[in-house]
Amino acid sequence: MRLRLRLLVLCLMIILFVVYNMASYQRRQTVLDEDAPPFDTMMGSDRAAVKASGTGRATAKVSHGAASTARVGFLPHGIVEPYSDMELKPLWLTRSVQSPQESNQKDRCLIAIPAGINQKKSVDALMKKFLAENFTAILFHYDGKVNEWNDLPWSKSVIHIAASNQTKWWFAKRFLHPAVVSMYKYIFLWDEDLEVDNFNPRRYLNIVKSERLEISQPGLDPKLSEIHHPITVRKKTGSFHRRVSRANKDCSREGPPCSGWVEGMAPVFSKSAWQCAWHLIQNDLVHGWGIDYKFGYCAQVLYW
Ligand SMILES: *[C@@H]1O[C@H](CO)[C@@H](O)[C@H](O)[C@H]1NC(C)=O
Ligand SMILES: *[C@@H]1O[C@H](CO)[C@@H](O)[C@H](O)[C@H]1NC(C)=O
Repeated sequence: MRLRLRLLVLCLMIILFVVYNMASYQRRQTVLDEDAPPFDTMMGSDRAAVKASGTGRATAKVSHGAASTARVGFLPHGIVEPYSDMELKPLWLTRSVQSPQESNQKDRCLIAIPAGINQKKSVDALMKKFLAENFTAILFHYDGKVNEWNDLPWSKSVIHIAASNQTKWWFAKRFLHPAVVSMYKYIFLWDEDLEVDNFNPRRYLNIVKSERLEISQPGLDPKLSEIHHPITVRKKTGSFHRRVSRANKDCSREGPPCSGWVEGMAPVFSKSAWQCAWHLIQNDLVHGWGIDYKFGYCAQVLYW
């Protein structure tokens, strides 16, 4: 009898606790909504769109650049979440497993590389370098082999995306939309077979930041790499260059690859440059050939 009574009391307490929590949550939400009237972010152009379309269908149409962010204005205040990141979140905890310092880190960077099992060793070396610097990493598996990476200790902390026989540019166009990677200050879209023994991501980022390079690549060691364009060779003195190359006899003109040249195999984009470069990647540009000749358009500081 006493046991039953105790159980009853316990149940009552639990119910009271739940009800109290729900009530206080509701109150908080109400306060939040009262703070700003709903639809306060709606813009003049959006209202015009509503009028013009009548059915509202046109308003759902995806448009580019600034216009598409304005469309969000149709949502009531308090439910708009404009940002997304690529961090893995726990299923059942309300708080992230990441430490607050980590999730609040201002200069978060992303590295995305294609990954074939034949290049496991070099991808492993790349990942070890970048994960140690708290980069978020995405592997694009193009050979259907995903489970084969499970034995590596970092495998569970990176994102794996698989699609047969696709290239880095195909993946980047589909999975790195500027809106989903807008949290990241720099995006490294690299090939998998780059040797990084002499590369330090932190030092590289320091140069990129201090020089405000919108699109850049690390200098190549001519003894270790195959050089396609002399301008990509590491300079012996100084930590960076913005050189115009005269080594190539065709370099009487000032366009790429004689100046402003960053090769497609190891580009690093700033957030704003990526917003531009993503649009530059044509939907059917599978191999990415020639895109590096056009990167220059996106290397100006852009405010979209
Ligand atoms: C990476 O994040 C951890 C956890 O917040 C921090 O202790 C460490 O210093 C960070 N490493 C770098 C290189 O920023
Ligand atoms: C991918 O390419 C390989 C080699 O060319 C081929 O054997 C395989 O069937 C292709 N896979 C798909 C899904 O097209």
